[in-house]
Amino acid sequence: MISTAAAPPPGPARIDVHTHLLPRDLPRWADRFGYSGFVGLEHPAGCRARMVRDDGTFFRDVDANLWDPAARLSDMHDTGVSAQVLSTVPVLFNYWAQPRDTLQVAQFLNDHLADVVRCHPDRFFGLGTLPMQDPDLAVRELDRCVGELGLHGIQIGSHVRGPLADWNLDEASLFPVFARAAELGAAVFVHPWDMMGEATMRKYWLPWLVGMPAECSRALCSLIFGGVLARLPTLRVCVAHGGGSFAATLGRIQHGFEARPDLCAIDNPLAPRDHVGRFWVDALVHDPLALRLVLDTLGEDRVAVGSDYPFPLGEARPGALVDSMALAPAVRAKLLRDNALNWLGIARESGCEEAP
Ligand code: CO
Repeated sequence: MISTAAAPPPGPARIDVHTHLLPRDLPRWADRFGYSGFVGLEHPAGCRARMVRDDGTFFRDVDANLWDPAARLSDMHDTGVSAQVLSTVPVLFNYWAQPRDTLQVAQFLNDHLADVVRCHPDRFFGLGTLPMQDPDLAVRELDRCVGELGLHGIQIGSHVRGPLADWNLDEASLFPVFARAAELGAAVFVHPWDMMGEATMRKYWLPWLVGMPAECSRALCSLIFGGVLARLPTLRVCVAHGGGSFAATLGRIQHGFEARPDLCAIDNPLAPRDHVGRFWVDALVHDPLALRLVLDTLGEDRVAVGSDYPFPLGEARPGALVDSMALAPAVRAKLLRDNALNWLGIARESGCEEAP
């Protein structure tokens, strides 16, 4: 018997493509691997849980809705979300660690995420995490995520950086991961992490406010200029935070491509604007004019509601910005549901139907 709070909310379907999940209890990876740097969860009695690096560095306070499916389902009921796409928290990418250790952590996280999806297959879709600093291992875990765990895709960082790799997403070593994702039909969610400028913008949360939008554009420009999207026409990529600064600066990016092809068109002759329609972004831009620009620039078929649940820079009521705008009903349905299903590669008949 499903409780009322866990039941799908009434009203039209609403899919949130950008939400994060962790297991409540994480092993102390430092004890297992013999070196530190891994983020874990502490649960002080009577307090909120804390995400803390094993060297004691505090990351953020979190609540049970980060790990507890029941708490999430209750929130989803209250905010009208019929389904969430789950991915890990980017500080757990661990691209800096030894690849086999990153793989072990990724398998732990992916197994947990798949268990949550398996228990509530109509309410959750899952994206795995991969040891991207070792593309061979990444491809193997991608195969396991899709083939064994039944996940719909993966979440990767806006770049891959650590002692063994310092790569943007155009890096040739990463291409086999994208090629395999395209082959498997796995959706790829690109999330900013390791924000540029963290060393030089320490005050005012600037890495999150200034660096993060640039990270998203860096990822998109790398996929475009590197020819990844052009070479893999079936690859389905969605970039977080409305694609960051990409839409607002596409005129400059296009102009740069035309003015200095010797710098920009060296790996892909196709212009940046010709890639519009080849990728999705979420709608997490916090401003109706910005969302209007994203829709007009990137296309109303390529924008899906994503809230960054359950974190504070997210949209407290997923899709509230979309709700606030004067949109044709058909466009609204695309943003709330259809575009997410198309990106995930899910036929509409298989679930998330509009409530009668
Ligand atoms: Co996020």
